[in-house]
Amino acid sequence: MTEPLIRPARPDDAPALSTLGRATFIETFVEGFAIPYPPAELEPFLRASFGLETTTARLADPAEAWWVAEVDGAVVAFATTGPNALPHPDGRPSHAELKRLYVAKSAQGLGLGTRLLAVALDWMAANGDGAEWIGVWSGNLKAQKLYAAHGFEKAGEYEYPVGSWRDHEFILRRG
Ligand SMILES: CC(C)(COP(=O)(O)OP(=O)(O)OC[C@H]1O[C@@H](n2cnc3c(N)ncnc32)[C@H](O)[C@@H]1OP(=O)(O)O)[C@@H](O)C(=O)NCCC(=O)NCCS
Repeated sequence: MTEPLIRPARPDDAPALSTLGRATFIETFVEGFAIPYPPAELEPFLRASFGLETTTARLADPAEAWWVAEVDGAVVAFATTGPNALPHPDGRPSHAELKRLYVAKSAQGLGLGTRLLAVALDWMAANGDGAEWIGVWSGNLKAQKLYAAHGFEKAGEYEYPVGSWRDHEFILRRG
């Protein structure tokens, strides 16, 4: 294995990011945490969230920033930041939000999440004009521990829709 490379995402990463986003969501939330999403509603959610069309459009959106971790030429992790859209009374679109931090199961525990978070937080500090925000599933203690280690504190809760299912999420805030 070569040393993992962290770099900004390129438009031609869209197919790999689409595949990785979908696979990591399934590994983490469907298989790992065994959240009982209604099966018929999961596929439309996955397509809307991680499909190639959505991913291509988001990579081209100048309001968002994406980074990937590449190992031996394969994209194994990514982070996405952009304008805050979390439903908290103090939140503003001019604030920055960590929208996704996804490391493939096979590449977890190697420090890639920590390295991607560092570049994402640098972007958030430079591009937001107030508090920094992260939404995280209430049961995802590993991710919460990582964010707490970087100064994020629970500031609220909300329900994130996956079809008719609602994921109970924590809103984390720093600054
Ligand atoms: C949560 C996640 C981003 C962490 O990234 P990672 O690359 O696996 O983590 P790192 O190797 O950078 O380690 C970060 C911390 O997690 C700890 N950790 C790593 N693997 C772990 C495991 N299997 N169980 C518990 N803690 C673990 C590390 O010890 C480290 O803590 P430390 O700095 O106190 O030593 C990653 O596991 C992931 O993408 N999970 C699936 C998707 C997800 O949950 N994303 C977050 C959604 S908001």
